[in-house]
Amino acid sequence: MNLVEVRGVTKTFASTAEAVTPLAELDFTVARGEFVCLMGPSGSGKTTLLHLLAGIDRPTAGSVRIGGEEITGLSASALARWRTRAIGYVFQQYNLIPVLTAAENVEVPLLLLRLDRSDRDRRIATALAAVGLTDRAHHLPRQLSGGQQQRVAIARAIVADPLLLLADEPTGNLDRTAATATMALLRRLVAEFGKTLVMVTHDPQAAQQADRVVHIDKGRIAAVPHA
Ligand SMILES: Nc1ncnc2c1ncn2[C@@H]1O[C@H](COP(=O)(O)OP(=O)(O)OP(=O)(O)O)[C@@H](O)[C@H]1O
Ligand SMILES: [Mg+2]
Repeated sequence: MNLVEVRGVTKTFASTAEAVTPLAELDFTVARGEFVCLMGPSGSGKTTLLHLLAGIDRPTAGSVRIGGEEITGLSASALARWRTRAIGYVFQQYNLIPVLTAAENVEVPLLLLRLDRSDRDRRIATALAAVGLTDRAHHLPRQLSGGQQQRVAIARAIVADPLLLLADEPTGNLDRTAATATMALLRRLVAEFGKTLVMVTHDPQAAQQADRVVHIDKGRIAAVPHA
């Protein structure tokens, strides 16, 4: 069963002087437990597609089903509630809150769910242990290396046990060693915890970790099976 089913999706941004259509009648599916890597030139629509999968933005036309649910028809508030439970998102720039510790950053998605303190603490500890940062729980982001900050961001993305993990160039700011460690961690989340992951990358070495690489160009997809 496909966890992600995108059918005939077109996205047009009409707000600019000239309308831009980064995605054109695009079809894209991801199986449950699969790790798919999205690659393509700058401006080809990769981030736009991730935003549609996350319910951060809506398509101009077409259908986006995640876990069997058509998310294009949800109201703004229903979509926000859905996103909290269903999506874990990892950004290139980590996007941690600078005045919060690692543990407090990981806690943020849990504050939107109805959980008591002890339940939240248990989940935070589990997520930080999964990314190997138990001993950095009370550090601020600026007291952590880039690789460690990205691992905190990954802990934040998994702490609410989402249906789907999305990562937009998660190794883009990291050196080779930190990038390799981050990729090993993401790979392990899929293999051991059964997560489903869609990752955008420009890095062929990072893409090697994926089950399947999908190439996108000018808003259209050409799937190439992983060798
Ligand atoms: N909110 C927006 N309003 C207008 N145009 C947009 C908006 N978001 C993206 N675009 C345009 O859509 C196109 C695709 O952008 P997108 O960010 O999806 O590319 P990308 O494949 O992620 O590129 P990169 O590899 O550089 O991150 C670009 O031409 C971009 O300028
Ligand atoms: Mg992008």
